[in-house]
Amino acid sequence: MYEYFQFYSPTKVIFGIGSSSDFAGEVAGFGAKGVLVVSDKGVASHGILDRILGQITSRGMEVIGPYLDVKKDAPISVVNDFAQFGSRHGVDAIVAVGGGSVIDTAKAANILITHGGDLMRDYAGVQTIPSSLKPLVVVPTTAGTGSEVTSVAVVLDDKAGVKHSFVDDFLKPNVAILDPELTLSMPPHLTSATAVDAFSHALEAFTSNMRSPISDGLALEALYIIKKHLIPALSDPMNLELRSKLMVAATLAGMAFDNAMVGVVHGIAHAIGAIFGISHGEAVFLALPIGVSYNMDAAKERYAEVAMRLSISGEACEDLGASAFFDWLSSWRREISRKAGLALSLSEKGLSREKLDRVARLAAADGTSFYNPREVDKEELLRYLLKYY
Ligand SMILES: [Fe+2]
Repeated sequence: MYEYFQFYSPTKVIFGIGSSSDFAGEVAGFGAKGVLVVSDKGVASHGILDRILGQITSRGMEVIGPYLDVKKDAPISVVNDFAQFGSRHGVDAIVAVGGGSVIDTAKAANILITHGGDLMRDYAGVQTIPSSLKPLVVVPTTAGTGSEVTSVAVVLDDKAGVKHSFVDDFLKPNVAILDPELTLSMPPHLTSATAVDAFSHALEAFTSNMRSPISDGLALEALYIIKKHLIPALSDPMNLELRSKLMVAATLAGMAFDNAMVGVVHGIAHAIGAIFGISHGEAVFLALPIGVSYNMDAAKERYAEVAMRLSISGEACEDLGASAFFDWLSSWRREISRKAGLALSLSEKGLSREKLDRVARLAAADGTSFYNPREVDKEELLRYLLKYY
């Protein structure tokens, strides 16, 4: 019986091959005159930005920027720098073109550009933003974070070495432009890391304490698509149909976890990302078997259902189904590792065993623990980190 749930996903999603060349009307629709554009040097070097800037100016709007100094994991120092840059101009709307770091930098800076103040002092936590922000149009160039539809901005406190999640409905972008052409240039390791991040969003949403029948539906579809299409996409990276599938799956998973939240896999990933400075997607790839194993007993029924729905196992027995899911996950990760060169374990990645205690402490204190199907106990989690090291 369903007792109570909420689901809220207001972002307008526009999918289309080539859609990134024809979306300025969406920005003009907000009555914008000055449009702040944020991206990074990697995206700019692929020529993607030129066609985006061109269509904004051709609609009679002024481009402010582009600001290209975004750094990996959205450090607060860069968020502040970008916000100061934007605040010096008359900004009516923001267009963010890039991966999760660019989109999250835009989201966090939008708070400061709209309302002023200090990010950590005034807005840390959940639902702290007083009113709506400047319209934000996002154009993802990866297929993974789901940030194009979520109320979450994850930023890195570069002084303390800790990641903070800002969660507020006002952070949900107004429009997401999904153009799979922008993902064609992703190398295999990035295609894999971002897709496995999306897979983890869906899996953790499906096992979360906050799940609902709507998030379940989105999560299962995302899991199915990624299981079916990631390995083929690694063998055929210029295949737009496969890229389209992965891009849509990432957005479905984003909608699912934005409402159901994520759990200990992301808690571990946030911790190892902050401590060792590795990218979010790669951190999730490393954390996935540790978190799934940690939750195995608490989420057995859900893992068995995933195994059933994804045709991994026809077992009616929960124990066998869940175990089949874990076995499949292990072999899937090995195949991805072979094709994309991702390290399979923390030790293979060269991460210090001495720092696992700190990883466990940060992961247990991470906000995602609240939604995990099993209580995240630091000492118990350390056992799993050591077991899978
Ligand atoms: Fe993630």
